[in-house]
Amino acid sequence: MGLFVTIEGVEGCGKTTIGKMIVDKLISDGYEVIYTREPGGIEIAEQIRKVILDVNNTNMDARTEALLYAASRRQHLVEKVIPALKENKVIICDRFVDSSLAYQGHARGLGIEKVYEINKFAIDTVMPDLTLLFDLDPKLGLERISANKSREVNRLDLEKLEFHKLVREGFLIIENLEPNRVKKVDASKTIEEVFNDAYSLILEALNKKSAN
Ligand code: TMP
Repeated sequence: MGLFVTIEGVEGCGKTTIGKMIVDKLISDGYEVIYTREPGGIEIAEQIRKVILDVNNTNMDARTEALLYAASRRQHLVEKVIPALKENKVIICDRFVDSSLAYQGHARGLGIEKVYEINKFAIDTVMPDLTLLFDLDPKLGLERISANKSREVNRLDLEKLEFHKLVREGFLIIENLEPNRVKKVDASKTIEEVFNDAYSLILEALNKKSAN
């Protein structure tokens, strides 16, 4: 039985660090797991990622940005996510369609509905079984990433705090619209606490799926 889990949140919310901890724990608990990320995760999508996040591409149009994310999403789904689901694996994916809805739809102002429309073409009917929303005040998140010198700085990191506040607001709107799929985790807690909260939600989703 496959399970598709996505992790979402503002910059510096800890999703990458904790995502990797979740993968290690799932493997030690005997699950077959794939860890991947968006945009990227496979060669073509990593190439698209470079174009989208290049700090020199300051004149990129918001719709171009949304379409590129959707294109990279399509390729990643076809090459990696769908085959893994068919093999009954657990997929932990760092960002997915909700990032497009929050960043391009809400924060860039294209509209959540409109961005969802173009993404429907990319994802067809594939949606996550569970989305963990690592909720954090973006001010704290940006402070965390500026303290982490080894992290890459991308074009969206360069946006002002106001933009990241809208991103958080966008995620919370989606959580409100889809409470069964999107589960909020308080990412201002310690790494261990956030990990425990996230892991319990994944176990719950695994149990629910195996009962169906
Ligand atoms: P990352 O830093 O979490 O790897 O994500 C790369 C950046 O891309 C991050 O600033 C969020 C942004 N992003 C979008 O704006 N829309 C999307 O659909 C995705 C997947 C990411």
